[in-house]
Amino acid sequence: MPAPAKFISYIDAHKDAFIARLGEAVAIPSVSGDPSHRPDVIKMASYIKSLLEPLGVKVELKDVGMEKQPDGTELPLPPVVFGTLGADPKKKTVLLYAHYDVQPALVSDGWNTDPFTLTPDKEGRLFGRGSTDDKGPLIAWINIVEAHVKQGIELPVNIKFCLEGMEESGSEGLDDLIEKEKDGFFKSCDCVCICDNYWMNDRTPCLTYGVRGMSYYRIIVSGPARDLHSGLFGNTVHEPMTDLILLMSKLVTPSGEIMIPGLDKLVAPLTDAEKKRYETIDFALSDIEEQVGAKIVLSDDKPRVLMGRMRNPSLSLHGIEGAFYGPGAKTVIPAKVQGKFSIRLVPNMTPENVDPLVIKYLSDEFAKLKTKSTLKIENIHGGKAWVADPDHWNFRAAIKATEEVYKKKPDLTREGGSIPVTLTFADVLGLNVLLLPMGRGDDGAHSTNEKLDTYNYIEGTKLLGTYLYEVAVTN
Ligand code: BES
Ligand code: MN
Ligand code: MN
Repeated sequence: MPAPAKFISYIDAHKDAFIARLGEAVAIPSVSGDPSHRPDVIKMASYIKSLLEPLGVKVELKDVGMEKQPDGTELPLPPVVFGTLGADPKKKTVLLYAHYDVQPALVSDGWNTDPFTLTPDKEGRLFGRGSTDDKGPLIAWINIVEAHVKQGIELPVNIKFCLEGMEESGSEGLDDLIEKEKDGFFKSCDCVCICDNYWMNDRTPCLTYGVRGMSYYRIIVSGPARDLHSGLFGNTVHEPMTDLILLMSKLVTPSGEIMIPGLDKLVAPLTDAEKKRYETIDFALSDIEEQVGAKIVLSDDKPRVLMGRMRNPSLSLHGIEGAFYGPGAKTVIPAKVQGKFSIRLVPNMTPENVDPLVIKYLSDEFAKLKTKSTLKIENIHGGKAWVADPDHWNFRAAIKATEEVYKKKPDLTREGGSIPVTLTFADVLGLNVLLLPMGRGDDGAHSTNEKLDTYNYIEGTKLLGTYLYEVAVTN
């Protein structure tokens, strides 16, 4: 059942108002990873409530407790926003998830515009932190509800919203809440739709049936009681930075192979049928080169590269806290440095079976350095990989909706990124989860100059709305 023409025309007619609304959302710097922005994350929850309530959505802000900071202090976690619209037992109930927190962004990182001021260019690209990840999709759901309520069109399904503010920081508190509410708030849900991913390229819509999990580590190397002068103490004491760099150099090769023994044995074996699927996805190595802005792909073999993103693990080095990084030539020996890296997990890896391998390997390698510095290894956060069955009415409905809006068959893809809650929805609630993207592969989520094309925002809003109509009638 296609969406009513009145719905589609409302979306077209309100394009400017919808862009302005996305602008209001982007203007709240709800950076979950930065403690100084925690009040903004909480403000974002109230802002969402203020949009949903006038539309007749019953909103609850669920407190999920406190977050322990590395220094021992505690910070309030932002609330999970629950929303309920409709409770007609004759209709399906669709659970919609999105996150209202964003990654950090500073103009000095290389933004061409202020990251928290949504700025259109003449091609209709809307630049701003969170435009595609994940405020555009979140606001789109609100626009869809508005289009129905304002025009007195009955929604084809009951809606439950679950909107979180800690996704970019490991979704703390959410799993416990879902467990607690599985027979409460979530009881009537029939399926889940998450709009928090992207097309592979800039032309072909896709549906996503898998994401990788992750284990994020911090390795702390310390030695002297305070920072030292390298002239006085160089070649005199063991230096934590030297030890850390050596250790971090043993994690991954320049061609992407993880050097930790035993991890490869945890990866689910590849079948010929699965390998074939990677050949037909509309995703060329040149798309990757365009998205990253350089000719640096690991191999000319397309299935190898796609599998590196979709079905194999990866290990990335992210940063070193405590290292000198400012301008000039400070001659310091840092007293304590923390190396950060993460591993993207795939079936059948879990944080539980990966952690011991990582810890043993790093401890052994550290021992080989014969240093008197001390080493501490911590897992900061983790989440399991998720793969769904795309042969389900939830996916069939999304395929139909995509064909209606974009006049194209969507590719079925797995994604390299992580959304920790997907597996919890699937396992704890026993529901089929669909990832239905709005943005494009070159949107630059987490990067400088993140954007969402107006085309994708508006057509994507139609797509999500149309999906609700299709899901209502697909079995
Ligand atoms: N929207 C992304 C997840 C994603 C990334 C989906 C790429 C598809 C392609 C999400 O907001 C995200 O960034 N997740 C984090 C989770 C992590 C902090 C546990 C990620 O993947 O780094
Ligand atoms: Mn996201
Ligand atoms: Mn993200």
